[in-house]
Amino acid sequence: MRGSRIVGMGHCVPDRVVTNDDLAEFIETSNEWIVQRTGIEERRWVEGNVGAADLAFDATKDALAEAGMKASDLDMIIFATLSPDVTFPGSSCILQKMLGVPGIATLDIRNQCTGFVYGLSIADQFIKTGMMNNVLVVGGEVHSSGLDMSTRGRDVTVLFGDGAGVAIVSATDGENRIIDSKLHADGTHYDVLMVEAPASRLNPRLTPEMLEEGRHYPKMDGRQVFRNAVTAMPAVVHEVLEPHGFTVEDISMLIPHQANLRINQMVQRSLGLSDDQVFNNIMKYGNTTAASIPIALHEAIQAGKVHEGDVVVLTAFGAGLTWGANLIRW
Ligand code: UT7
Repeated sequence: MRGSRIVGMGHCVPDRVVTNDDLAEFIETSNEWIVQRTGIEERRWVEGNVGAADLAFDATKDALAEAGMKASDLDMIIFATLSPDVTFPGSSCILQKMLGVPGIATLDIRNQCTGFVYGLSIADQFIKTGMMNNVLVVGGEVHSSGLDMSTRGRDVTVLFGDGAGVAIVSATDGENRIIDSKLHADGTHYDVLMVEAPASRLNPRLTPEMLEEGRHYPKMDGRQVFRNAVTAMPAVVHEVLEPHGFTVEDISMLIPHQANLRINQMVQRSLGLSDDQVFNNIMKYGNTTAASIPIALHEAIQAGKVHEGDVVVLTAFGAGLTWGANLIRW
């Protein structure tokens, strides 16, 4: 039966390293607080005018090379981002222009930290139906240009980093494939992590007063997000494994979204996984939302931690609220 598999990956993070001590120069925070609560030691932030599509373009060049493909082999670009280059059109169109492949389908998706998990599932569905053969799935973010660089925003600002990760998903008849995905959302809590303005429901969309109040910056009820994340991710991992006769012991590698090392340690404990079954890199990059899973997965592959035939599970939780998991026979 026709299915899909990842045939090439790439990732790109900006060169500029921003340490916790760097942040403490303009925000009331400390390396100790950030490391204890989140595990983050540093993150990468862009310099100057760089958008999510710019980072994705560099990552895509590497993925195409790894897959032995040309951009003209792609049928579709799915771009997961909560920090699009411009309000509209989508970053998928901007990346398409950079890749020089006019005419192929493009789709931006708005599923925040769960964007890559959703995107991979969408690519898999398009390929299974036979409508597409080669789909580029992108998670790309530039947060640093939209963060509150004052102490008012410190709970969020210290968390976020910039980066992009991409996967080329292609048709296969083999057993090594994306086996299944489970996708969820609960919009009841859409406002626990959000950027409120500019917004079409506000007229005008943005005023000097809103800027003054910082309503254009992300706001989060961190504790509520934390509480939901540590229960939803283990549950969705079981949900994606069990219909296929797998248990947590079959997992060769779990790549959880990189929002907080403490969250991932609790998810690991709750699932009863050993250290070598879970990959984390939040220490170096902070939370890159939609980009975090493809960056981590690609780094795990480059570190020799993912082998052909392995059972790989990706899981994410984030704003929306949204959560989900992909089960892959690598
Ligand atoms: O990827 C999207 C999904 N996002 C997440 O999964 C994030 C989930 N939430 C979290 O990771 C955690 O809730 C945070 C890391 C955001 C916060 O950790 P916390 O242990 O929940 O801290 P808190 O928000 O309850 O704040 C504790 C204290 C507060 O001070 P008081 O009221 O106790 O005096 C904060 O004002 O820490 C203070 N605080 C800070 N102090 C130093 C908040 N941010 C900072 C900071 N530096 N950056």
